[in-house]
Amino acid sequence: EAAEVPVLCIDGPTASGKGTLAVAVAYQLGYHYLDSGTLYRVAGLTMRRNGLEADAAHEARIAELARTLPLRFADGKVLLAGEDVSDAIRTEAAGMDASRVSALPAVREALLALQKSFRRLPGLMADGRDMGTVVFPDADLKVYLTASAAQRAERRHKQLISKGISTTLDSLRADLEARDLRDSSRSVAPLKPAPDARLLDNSALSVEQSVEQVIAWWQEVQPFG
Ligand code: DC
Repeated sequence: EAAEVPVLCIDGPTASGKGTLAVAVAYQLGYHYLDSGTLYRVAGLTMRRNGLEADAAHEARIAELARTLPLRFADGKVLLAGEDVSDAIRTEAAGMDASRVSALPAVREALLALQKSFRRLPGLMADGRDMGTVVFPDADLKVYLTASAAQRAERRHKQLISKGISTTLDSLRADLEARDLRDSSRSVAPLKPAPDARLLDNSALSVEQSVEQVIAWWQEVQPFG
C-alpha cells in the first residue's frame, strides 16, 4: 500500500535549487527520486511537436497525449519514444512551455497517476511545485524552498553558461519572474507552500548546508523511528 511508503517533498519556485538539493537528499537516503517538472517539460515538448497551443481549445488533446507519454528514464537520460530529449527539455523555451501546459487542469490530472507510481519502497523524494499540496498531501515531510529572484537568476545563469548557452542575467530574471507569476497564479494547484510545510530559504546556504537541514528534519519526523 503506497501510503506505507515514506515520502518527502521539496516544492518551490523555478531555479530555487530544488533539483540539486532533492537529488542529494534522495542519494543520501537511498530513495527513489521524482523530478515532476520533467514530466511537464516532456508534455510541453509533445504539445509543441504536435503543433498545439496551451489553451482551452487544445486542453483535452494535450491531456490525452500527457496521459500516454511514451516516457522512459535510463542512465540519467529522459527518453521519449526512445529518443533522448534530455537537452531539448532543458532550454528556457521548454521551461516556458512546461509552465504553460502545467496551467491546464486536465493536463495536471493526466499526470497524477504517473507521479504517484514513483512512490515505491524504500521511499520517495519528490520535487516540484505541488508535491506537498496535491500529489502527496500525506507526505511525511514537506519542505518549501525559496531563494531571492536575484540569487536564482544568478544560479540559472551559471548553469546555462557552463552548458555553453549564452543569455543575460536580466532576461533570465525576467523569464523566471514571469514563470513564477504564472505558476503561482494559476487556478489549479498553484505554487504555494502546504500549510504544514517547513520553509527553507537557501539564499545564503551552501548545497551541503541545505542537505543537512533537510536530513535533520527527516530524522525528526522519521516515519519508522
Ligand atoms: O521544475 P521545472 O522548472 O522543471 O518545472 C517546469 C514547469 O513545470 C514549471 O514552470 C511549472 C511546471 N510544474 C508544475 O506545474 N508542477 C510541478 N509539480 C512541477 C513543475
